[in-house]
Amino acid sequence: MSDMTKKSSNAMWGGRFAVGPSEVMEKINASIDFDKRLYREDIAGSKAHCAMLVKQGIISAEDGESIQKGLDTILREIAEGHFEFSAALEDIHMNVESRLRDLIGDAAGRLHTARSRNDQVAVDFRLWVRGAADELDKQLGLLLEALIDQAEENHDAIMPGYTHLQAAQPVTFGHHLLAYAEMLGRDRSRLRDCRARMNECPLGAAALAGTSFPIDRFATAEALGFDRPTANSMDSVSDRDFALEFLSLGSILGMHLSRMAEEFVIWCSEGFRFVELSDAFTTGSSIMPQKKNPDAAELIRGKVGRVMGSLNTLLVVMKGLPMTYGKDMQEDKEPVFDAADTLILCVTAMAGMVRDMKSNRERMMAATSAGFLTATDLADWLVRVLGLPFRDAHHVTGTLVKMAEDKGLDIADLSLEEMQSVESRITDDIFSVLTVEASAQSRTSYGGTAPTMVKAAAEAARKRLL
Ligand code: ARG
Repeated sequence: MSDMTKKSSNAMWGGRFAVGPSEVMEKINASIDFDKRLYREDIAGSKAHCAMLVKQGIISAEDGESIQKGLDTILREIAEGHFEFSAALEDIHMNVESRLRDLIGDAAGRLHTARSRNDQVAVDFRLWVRGAADELDKQLGLLLEALIDQAEENHDAIMPGYTHLQAAQPVTFGHHLLAYAEMLGRDRSRLRDCRARMNECPLGAAALAGTSFPIDRFATAEALGFDRPTANSMDSVSDRDFALEFLSLGSILGMHLSRMAEEFVIWCSEGFRFVELSDAFTTGSSIMPQKKNPDAAELIRGKVGRVMGSLNTLLVVMKGLPMTYGKDMQEDKEPVFDAADTLILCVTAMAGMVRDMKSNRERMMAATSAGFLTATDLADWLVRVLGLPFRDAHHVTGTLVKMAEDKGLDIADLSLEEMQSVESRITDDIFSVLTVEASAQSRTSYGGTAPTMVKAAAEAARKRLL
C-alpha cells in the first residue's frame, strides 16, 4: 500500500473496495468545495423524496419523520455555518447523508431508496439554476424599469445617432435607451423560455433506468415546484441543456450589457460628456485628482467574458459524452455558478448606474452641430417637394455637403443662392427641414425617433416589458 493510499474505504460506497482512494484521487474526485452551494436544494429534494417514500408505503412513517427532522437540523447547521464538510465524503449529497446517519442512525440509510446521486444531482442543479434564473429575472426587471424611466425623461433630448460610430442622423437619447430596453426585453423573454423548459423534475429517474419501487414522480415534481416529471429516465440524468440554455441566453445578455457598458464609457469620455455617472458608480484615480473613471461600466464590459467562457466550458465538457451520466458532468457547476453570480452582479450594477446617471442635453445638442446630420432631411425635401428620384437627390445633397465642408459651414448656413447654384428649383422652404429638432420631430414612422413617438414607445415598453 502506497503512502498516497488511505486505509479506510468510503463509508457510502466502499462495500466492494478493499482500500480507500489515494490522496490525489480524493482531490480530483471531490466536489464539495463548490457543490456545497447546493445544500438548500439538496435538502429540499431529499425532503420531497422522503415524504413521497412514506406516502407510497416504501419507508415507514416513523423513519420518514426522523429523516425529516434530521434534514431540518442539517439545513440549520449549514446555514448557520457550523457544519463540517468533508472532502472524503466527496460531495454535498454524501456529506448530508453521512451527517444524517450521525444524527438519526440507521433510518438515514433508507432515504436513498429508489434514488441515485445521478437523479439527485440533476434535481439539485435544476433547482439551483431555476433560483438563479428567477433572481436574474428580477434584476433584469429593475434594469428595464430604470432604462424606461430614463428614456421617458429624455424622450426629447436630441443627440447624434451613429452608424460606424460616425455621426449619422439626429435621434433622441430616450430612443437610444429604448433600443437597449428592447434587447434586454428579448433577453428576459429568452430567460423565461429557458425557465419554462427547465421546469421538469428528474428525481426518480434513479441511476438511469428508473426504479422497481412504486414511487410517485408526479408528487415529488409538484412538491418541488416543477410543472411535471421528466419523461425519460436516461435523458433525466444525462441532460444539462437547462444549464447550457441559461449560459447561452446569459452570454447574449452579457453581450448586450457589454455594448451598453462600452457606450457609457464613450459617453463619459472628454470628447462626449453626454452623460454623468454618479459618484456611487465611478472611482477616482490615485494620482490624477481630476479623474472620475467609469469603472463599473468597464468591469461589466470585462466581466461578461467570464459568462461567455463558461458557456464554452460546459459545451466542451458535454460534447461527445455517451449516455447517460458521466463524472465529467461534475464539471458543470463551477462555470454555471460563476456565470450566474457574474450576470446578477452586472445587471444589478448596470441598473444602479442607469438609475443614477444624468444626461447632459447641452453637450448632446452641441455634438449635433458637426457631421451634417440633416443631410438626409435635405435629400428627403428634394424628393418630397421637387419630386427628384432619391438617388438624384442624394447626389445633389452630396454636392451641397461638399460645398459647405469646403467653406467650413453647416449645410443650413449655405445661402439660398449657393444652394440654387447646384439645384435651381430649391426654395427658401428647404431651411425648415435643416434643424436637428425638425429632423428628429419628422421621424414619426412606427418605431421612429420623433419625441412624441419615443414618449409613447416608453409607455408601451413599460406595459410590454415590465
Ligand atoms: N458529485 C456528483 C456530480 O456533481 C454527483 C453525482 C455522482 N454520481 C455518481 N454516480 N458518481 O456530478
